[in-house]
Amino acid sequence: MFTTPFLDLPPLRAAQGTVRLPGSKSISNRVLLLAGLSEGTTVVHDLLDSDDTSVMLDALRTLGCGVQADGERWHITGLGGRLSAKSASLFLGNAGTAMRPLTAALAVLAATQGGEFEVKGIPRMHERPIGDLVDALRQLGCPVTYLGNEGYPPLRLGPGNGALSTASPIRVRGDVSSQFLTALLLALPLVTEQGPVTIEVEGELTSKPYIEITLNLLARFGIAVERDGWQRFTLPQGSRYRSPGDVRVEGDASSASYFVALGAIAAHGGRTVRIEGVGDDSIQGDIRFVDAARAMGADVSSGPGWLEVRRGAWPLRPITLDCNHIPDAAMTLAVMALFATGTTRLTNIASWRVKETDRIAAMATELRKLGAVVTEGADFIEVAAPARWQRAAIHTYDDHRIAMCFSLAAFNPLAANSLGVPVRILDPRCVGKTFPDYFETLFGVVEVDPTDVPVLTIDGPTASGKGTLASAVAISLGYHFLDSGALYRATALAAREAGVAETDEAGLAAVASGLRLRFTGHEIWLGDVEVSDDLRREDVGAMASKVSAFPSVRDALRALQLSHRRLPGLVADGRDMGTVIFPGADLKVFVTASAAVRAERRYKQLISKGIPANIDSLRADLEARDARDQSRTVAPLKPAEDAKLFDNSELPVDQCVAQVLEWWNAKQAFAAS
Ligand code: DC
Repeated sequence: MFTTPFLDLPPLRAAQGTVRLPGSKSISNRVLLLAGLSEGTTVVHDLLDSDDTSVMLDALRTLGCGVQADGERWHITGLGGRLSAKSASLFLGNAGTAMRPLTAALAVLAATQGGEFEVKGIPRMHERPIGDLVDALRQLGCPVTYLGNEGYPPLRLGPGNGALSTASPIRVRGDVSSQFLTALLLALPLVTEQGPVTIEVEGELTSKPYIEITLNLLARFGIAVERDGWQRFTLPQGSRYRSPGDVRVEGDASSASYFVALGAIAAHGGRTVRIEGVGDDSIQGDIRFVDAARAMGADVSSGPGWLEVRRGAWPLRPITLDCNHIPDAAMTLAVMALFATGTTRLTNIASWRVKETDRIAAMATELRKLGAVVTEGADFIEVAAPARWQRAAIHTYDDHRIAMCFSLAAFNPLAANSLGVPVRILDPRCVGKTFPDYFETLFGVVEVDPTDVPVLTIDGPTASGKGTLASAVAISLGYHFLDSGALYRATALAAREAGVAETDEAGLAAVASGLRLRFTGHEIWLGDVEVSDDLRREDVGAMASKVSAFPSVRDALRALQLSHRRLPGLVADGRDMGTVIFPGADLKVFVTASAAVRAERRYKQLISKGIPANIDSLRADLEARDARDQSRTVAPLKPAEDAKLFDNSELPVDQCVAQVLEWWNAKQAFAAS
């Protein structure tokens, strides 16, 4: 997951490949709650691993449920409808799918079994309305107290005196959020001993497909809800939750929307994007996004558990669509509209205003930054493509879906009226709510012109601290890191082991071009052997300095170095990164430090590893190596003409990193964020 303050997406050109979707958020949290209320143990497969499910798992643990991870599976042992903890304070983050159903379930349990609970979340959660649900619970006789503002969490639930009035129908509004009805449907089976319980919906029920998911899952846990249209729902007398044993969570259909759109926009020229985990047998309403995407031009084929998408009509066609049935996935349509001719109008989306953020306002603001022409109303949005695309820093409002759908704007080179601009996604970590690896998954299936991938080079003499600096800068930016010295060191080590003399240029070049070098996290592997420590040996460094003077060795390592230029960007350190390998780098830094300082650094490094060292001979060795690196005929060590020179003798590492990041940010001319 990218935890950097921002993620820059360079212009992207095409997409193809297969993605496997994480589990559905809506199904995951419903299944967890149902398992937590049931008798017996439920084994949950393919559960979504995200912020919203982790708050639910924590809540179940606090309430006394058995919660155990077993590889990819979770074993949830439920309460069997009996409170185990009689009081608790639950923090539910910004997870509406945890807040609403837990509120309802704990309110009825606290009222009938004598308990007292508090539910709360992050500040945004305390701005998301819950009054309609509280009103319904109060009709039953559940004591519920607002601890902050009237109509919003945090809430106190209970204590109660044992009796609820379930004889007459419970009325709940259905036109703000369907989650209130879902919450009641999940909670009220717990209080059906005396007789059936009926819920009546007031107003037009919004987001019906989510109610279908709820009904479907209730059935799997033994509850057969009787339904009269979308107005009346009755839970039969004596309803009891029974674990079905195993439950498999299907892939998230809302998450699928980004990849369906990706295929429609970027799977051109015979390419296909295949999506696994969700297909035409899905129980999720957002699967109907596929129809909307088809209407805009996507060519989609499907089967059980899979979808395949290719570009169909191009440019995309604008649509006018009532999106009440696909509220979450519809945000993706608003971004697809950037690639259509004409104006797309999405209506009946008032629920957007009470989601993670006010999504209508947020989408309008951010789409305009790219140059789109947008009109917004209380319950609709209209989007027309930019007359000229502009680079933009997209604010994400702690809303995973904004971050994910706007990533598609990086395909602007495919649209008319774009010269190819990068898109900055601010606070990319917000995708953790439902799809922590979203960007990594996206990068796995996109094609980019390598020269569009940002590169930052940090060159300098040995022991100048460039490696430490470069790897820290790479972490701050979420970029890949290339320690090019490791390639020369690995060549030296492999040559030594193969008995190739350090004067045998052709033999050394053959070793270099056949290197089986792999970088995994902090480890470096040569073939099947981990060589991270061997590569740092002084004798290996000295030999590397010699082998690197041969032009054919340098040539042999060139392609390997270039191949590290991958999304979302690269920080490369070495001697000639800015001069020879990446002469077009976006920022070049050349670090130096006095020989005395460098000798001392190397000395401390060796001593800390328990390797005996002598500071005077280290300094003499450094100076000899500098002289050799600087005087060789090919790629001698020298700053690129346009490099920023940087003497770091006196500066601590974090200040060096801050300086480089400041230069980097100054290079990015993003619109105001
Ligand atoms: O950065 P280092 O100490 O790991 O590099 C080891 C040797 O490799 C160094 O003496 C010079 C050579 N080298 C090079 O010639 N070009 C590079 N880009 C990186 C290292």
